[in-house]
Amino acid sequence: MRSKIVAGNWKMNKNLAETESLLTELSAKLPDTSAEVMVAPTYINLMEAVRHLESSAIEVIAQNMHFAQNGAYTGEISADMLLNIGVETVIIGHSERRAYFGETDAILAKKVKTALSKSMRSIFCFGEELEDRKADTHFNVVEKQLKNALFSLNANDWSKIVLAYEPVWAIGTGETASPEQAQEMHAFVRKTIAEAYNDDIAANVSILYGGSVKPANAKEIFSKPDVDGGLIGGAALAADDFVAIIKAI
Ligand code: PGA
Repeated sequence: MRSKIVAGNWKMNKNLAETESLLTELSAKLPDTSAEVMVAPTYINLMEAVRHLESSAIEVIAQNMHFAQNGAYTGEISADMLLNIGVETVIIGHSERRAYFGETDAILAKKVKTALSKSMRSIFCFGEELEDRKADTHFNVVEKQLKNALFSLNANDWSKIVLAYEPVWAIGTGETASPEQAQEMHAFVRKTIAEAYNDDIAANVSILYGGSVKPANAKEIFSKPDVDGGLIGGAALAADDFVAIIKAI
């Protein structure tokens, strides 16, 4: 059975005091939910966030990590470092990492393999650019992203993979894919996985939608049968909005 997930990607926002205050507010307002709730603060505040949420149901996750075990990679963070402070889930392949930091499918494939080798869960992001959608190549683009980074995994590995469909044109733009567009892509992704692996794996992988999810549109998006939750950027930075989105699932 796949799980419902609402994950907040804070990106490069919130200093230490702001992180503590948002976490305190979130913990106090967290509604009863069957969904897994996650937050991804910046690296520098991860350890404090883990401490802060020790007795909370909210999981602290990382926004990125390097594929190497350790070594001469100035500015980078390894899987072991994350595990060492109690972080067991990592976002991999966010479109901002792909676009601004040159992360290719080949690099992302290595990151996912490293996460798996450490039994970490990956939230693997993918999605087309506006030009792809206009050219009607969005299904091909997504299929290629999945194939290149994930389809060399073993069937067993998929229990540690969560997918996040994030059309680039909908991230931070206020433009949301319509619930129908999200459902159409999520169903396509499940079909593609079923063809590459089997129906069981396709049915059990959680597929989140991300891109301008807000309290006002969350319920409709989450009501779609192949949408298992959301990866939330901007609206995760305010406790009331994030809580409203959790309530919508
Ligand atoms: P957004 O970001 O909700 O601000 O569009 C989503 C994301 O980048 O994960």
